[in-house]
Parts: sequence; C-alpha cells; structure tokens
Amino acid sequence: MIKTLIPLMSSFILPATALELPNVLGSPPAKTKEEWLKVQRPATLELFKKHVYGRAPVGKPDTLAFKVLEENPKAMDGAATLKIIQISYSGPGGESSFKLITFIPNKATKPAPGYLLICNRGPENIDPTRKQKDDFWPAESIVARGYVAATFFNGELSTDKDLNFDNGAHKVFDNYEGERPGDAWATIAAWAWGASRALDYFETDPAIDATKFAVIGHSRGGKTALWAGATDERFALTISNNSGCTGAALARRKQGERVARINKVFPHWFCGNYKNFDGRENDLPIDQHQLIALMAPRAVYVASASKDDWADPKGEFLAAAYAGPVYKLFGLKGIEAVEMPATNQPIQLGHIGYHLRSGKHDLTDYDWEQYLNFGDKHLK
Ligand code: GCU
Repeated sequence: MIKTLIPLMSSFILPATALELPNVLGSPPAKTKEEWLKVQRPATLELFKKHVYGRAPVGKPDTLAFKVLEENPKAMDGAATLKIIQISYSGPGGESSFKLITFIPNKATKPAPGYLLICNRGPENIDPTRKQKDDFWPAESIVARGYVAATFFNGELSTDKDLNFDNGAHKVFDNYEGERPGDAWATIAAWAWGASRALDYFETDPAIDATKFAVIGHSRGGKTALWAGATDERFALTISNNSGCTGAALARRKQGERVARINKVFPHWFCGNYKNFDGRENDLPIDQHQLIALMAPRAVYVASASKDDWADPKGEFLAAAYAGPVYKLFGLKGIEAVEMPATNQPIQLGHIGYHLRSGKHDLTDYDWEQYLNFGDKHLK
C-alpha cells in the first residue's frame, strides 16, 4: 500500500504534527473526477466493505413492501401530515419489518426535501404523537423550515446487543454456509441498509422529493449515517453528529476511543475482519477521511462537540478537511482550512460543512439549526 503524507492543497498549511495517512485520492491517485468515479471510488468503498463495515447480502429486496399504518393530515396543529409506514421484507430466513415515522410539511407546494434521522435512542425521542418533544429530533422546527422530518429506530433493523445476528435484517438475509465470513455485514451496516429502504419508500411518495434527502445520525447513528451515505449515492446530504471512532474521526490519531476498544465493547457493530486492526491503526488500508470523501460530489457535514474527547473532535475535523481533494476533482470547495474553527463558528462555504459546538456529546437544537442552514444551500 502506498502511503503519502496528508494531501497538500495549495491553500493548505501543513499542521505541526503531520499524520501519515493513505492518500484520499486512492492509489494511484485519481487525477480526474472520471478516474475517481470509475476506479478509485469503487476501490475505496470496497476496502471499507471488506475491512470495516462488512458487505450487505442484499440491496433493495424484491420483497420490499410499504403499508401505511397511520395517517393524520392534521398533525402538529395542522402544519404536517403524519404517516407511519411499515416497511417489510422477507428472504431466506423469514420476514421482518420496521416503522418509518414521517411528517410532511402541509405548506409545501412541490415535493418536499427532507431529513432522515437514524434514531439510536428510545421511543420518547421520536414520539409520533408529539406529546413528548426532544431536541434530539426537533420535528416541528424541521417541518417549519419546509422539510420532511422522518426517522426510524435502529434496533428494529438489528438489536444493538445481539451478537448472534438472529433478528431483523440479519435473521432474514444472513445465509452463510459454515462460519460467518470476516466481511459479513454487522449491525451498523444493517442500520444503514434500513436508511436506504426508507429512501426507497420516499421515492414512492409524491409529496416527497427523494432526490433531496439528508441522512443524519448521532454517535453510533452518525457512524451509520456515514456508511449509508457512502453506500447509497441517492442521499444528497450526509450528516455525522459526534460520530467519533470509525465514524468521522481519523483512526491513526489514536485519540479518544480506539479500534481495539470499540471492537471489544461493541463486537457486533463492525465486520469480523475489523478486529484484525485492534491496536494496529497504522496498518488499516484506509482511514476515515476516505469515508467522508466517498460522499463527493454530494454534500456532507461533520460536527463535533468541544467536551467530547472520546470522539476526538480534532480527528473528526481533520478527516472532513482531508476529504477536500476529492471534492476538488469536481471543482467543489471543501473546508479549505486545516485549523479547527472556534466553538460555534460553523464552516459552510462549500460542499463539506463542519462545526464544533460548545458542550457535551449530544445532538442539540444548535446542531440541527446548522444542518438546516446547510440543507437550505444543498437541498433546496
Ligand atoms: C459509546 C461508544 C461510541 C459511540 C457512543 C454512542 O460511547 O464508545 O463509539 O459513538 O457509545 O453511540 O453513543
């Protein structure tokens, strides 16, 4: 594997402690957007499938079906139409389903763009009755800004503790002879697969513009959002909120949570092959700036919180900054800086957004406000 120093852009100043990272443009480095799309993007994606997130055995299954479980055209005091959709699928291991909660703005005069939150918290955070409201999913604010507010609970695709992969999408599609292969998908990939199936539904709803959809997640949900955006090029905007280790943070910085720790405590999140890199970050054939670069030329946003050392805010920032050369191939701007901005000073000049919110590990109103501002530039 050819490694190079962090990619230099003419306007970039090398930071004092240069990390040795794999070249974001691939090896040999793509020189044009065509080369990137034809050769180095697929090669990079393949490395992440093989060594980190695993391979989903199926894309959109022929058996995929949507059923409206509930519809209320006067939700949110008349501001939105609520639709709860059951998304069901079947395969060799039987059948399963998950619920998609969707608020569509009633004031929209054309199919509405939207935000799909991969929810890794409890039902009280995504209450469709809106009796309980929470900053984690400010559905009213999203709708007021003209966007569809949609969400599903990740645990319905695969539980967040089951090491046997015997439920949800794994139960239905895993059909391995003998031992589970080292590159078999795990829970993060199954949750991301669910996000793509939600997008399949949006494509069928005439009130929704599925070509202008953001996928967003926090923490383990942020890791998932990045994988969903990388594997499904239909997502127009990918948002990683405090995703940290094996999300936006560069593994080679070895700050905060590390590969061995995440594999030990959450052995079900990534594929078996990822365990080969416990304590061996420098030997990974990729690093996380390359995951962010897989979004190009679509928009991507990475956000950190100042008191979230576990997620390595600086590593998240640098990964977002170092994805820039791939955007350059498309004539697009990235972050255009290698110095972290001050807290609460969002960078939104190009197709890569970033902010460092002051405070702890969380998804807050402040974060959403920035994501909606960024969406106004890229989804409308
Ligand atoms: C743990 C884990 C992180 C993860 C977080 C979360 O802290 O170590 O990797 O992002 O949980 O999902 O809340």
